[in-house]
Amino acid sequence: MALLFCGMLLLLGGSDATSIADMDYGGVPLWINRLLGEPSVLSLQGRIDPGWFRANNPQACPKQCDCPIHWPTSVYCDHKGLEHIPDELPDRTEYLFLQGNNISSLPSSVLANITGLRWLILDNNQLQSDKLEQASLQNQTKLHYLFANQNHLTSVPSALPDGLRQLRLAHNNITSIGKGALQNLHNLTLLLLQGNRLQTIAQGDLKGLVSLNLLDLSGNRFSTVPRHLPPSVQQLYLSNNSLSGLDEDSFDGFLNLKYLRLSHCGLQSRGIHLHAFNHTSLVELDLSYNKLTTIPRVPTSLQYLYLEANEIQEFNVTSFCREVGLLSYSRMKILRLDGNKMSYNQLPPDWVYCLRVLQSIYV
Ligand SMILES: *[C@@H]1O[C@H](CO)[C@@H](O)[C@H](O)[C@H]1NC(C)=O
Ligand SMILES: *[C@@H]1O[C@H](CO)[C@@H](O)[C@H](O)[C@H]1NC(C)=O
Ligand SMILES: *[C@@H]1O[C@H](CO)[C@@H](O)[C@H](O)[C@H]1NC(C)=O
Ligand SMILES: *[C@@H]1O[C@H](CO)[C@@H](O)[C@H](O)[C@H]1NC(C)=O
Ligand SMILES: *[C@@H]1O[C@H](CO)[C@@H](O)[C@H](O)[C@H]1NC(C)=O
Ligand SMILES: *[C@@H]1O[C@H](CO)[C@@H](O)[C@H](O)[C@H]1NC(C)=O
Ligand SMILES: *[C@@H]1O[C@H](CO)[C@@H](O)[C@H](O)[C@H]1NC(C)=O
Ligand SMILES: *[C@@H]1O[C@H](CO)[C@@H](O)[C@H](O)[C@H]1NC(C)=O
Repeated sequence: MALLFCGMLLLLGGSDATSIADMDYGGVPLWINRLLGEPSVLSLQGRIDPGWFRANNPQACPKQCDCPIHWPTSVYCDHKGLEHIPDELPDRTEYLFLQGNNISSLPSSVLANITGLRWLILDNNQLQSDKLEQASLQNQTKLHYLFANQNHLTSVPSALPDGLRQLRLAHNNITSIGKGALQNLHNLTLLLLQGNRLQTIAQGDLKGLVSLNLLDLSGNRFSTVPRHLPPSVQQLYLSNNSLSGLDEDSFDGFLNLKYLRLSHCGLQSRGIHLHAFNHTSLVELDLSYNKLTTIPRVPTSLQYLYLEANEIQEFNVTSFCREVGLLSYSRMKILRLDGNKMSYNQLPPDWVYCLRVLQSIYV
């Protein structure tokens, strides 16, 4: 038994876990806290013979699922071709894996006996908004992670429990957030909504998300930078929206904004206000794959600027430094200008005085 146990841990530590996680979980890897006893793999598929669990684990386990003995509160029902969430889920369940099935509904009764649920993973199913019963999650006060990427949802589920920390809803068909759906989730730090059909965010939609750190709105139908976003956001991803331009106040109020991604947005230089990026908190700015002809003016605090695959023809030091002096210089470390209409010999002789801590430049 002891020998088998070691062998199993080795198998479970397989190195392919992270890449699978990246694809399945909306592109942001899952942070696992082993001290809480969180399971370190998201699927047991291909790792060990399920018969082994059944033979060695005396605890109750639904017949469609696998229950590993060393994570006694985890129930793995992923990739089993299920059309419904199994009944008789054990009351002890804290980590429930249901990804890669054909589940379309979430009835309120199915989780009713479970009081300690922490993760509910439902990626890659057929969940429909009208089959998600309002009451199904509201009593799950311990629920931290709700993942439902790649489903058929048309709106953000309502009556979410207050303690939620991550909500991943990438690649659904969501057209609106819905009044009150996300209000008062004071502990939510990560919200993934990329690959949906959002056009606007209404005032109040994201109100009360006072801890939100990462907001991914890439690949939606925004034509301008949405207003009414939580000011706590540090990472804002808006790539793959057709944006008409950026105004002086597009990013006003984001005092903590550090990482801003705006690639593949069809942006043109004349649509970008001179002071659009006047944010001293910015560390990284991605403007690759747009239609820029000049380098926009960026704050001297910026460290990473991605401008590859634009139509830039000239390099003007004033984009980076309004003045050059002992303490006034750009903190830029990496500057990408490859795939533009300029060459290295077009850099003016004085650029090194401004970009004096640069580590890499690609022209
Ligand atoms: C889901 O159901 C469809 C048909 O209803 C079937 O073709 C498909 O293989 C099923 N998918 C899974 C993961 O079982
Ligand atoms: C919940 O517990 C009750 C009482 O033990 C049981 O009758 C019922 O079937 C359980 N419900 C589910 C969905 O497991
Ligand atoms: C939620 O809790 C309330 C109060 O304890 C109870 O009346 C209700 O039936 C519960 N809902 C579900 C879906 O379990
Ligand atoms: C989204 O809706 C469109 C039209 O209603 C449909 O063709 C498409 O399959 C849906 N996609 C998903 C992921 O549900
Ligand atoms: C939010 O997190 C704090 C700190 O971890 C915790 O004390 C509080 O109970 C959480 N709020 C909810 C509604 O779970
Ligand atoms: C944006 O679209 C391009 C081209 O379709 C694709 O290669 C890229 O992965 C997308 N990026 C994001 C963040 O959606
Ligand atoms: C740029 O930002 C700084 C500091 O936040 C502020 O003092 C200054 O007025 C801003 N300039 C413009 C033109 O917005
Ligand atoms: C650089 O930009 C500044 C301000 O936009 C402008 O006054 C100056 O003529 C430009 N220099 C070159 C060489 O284009």
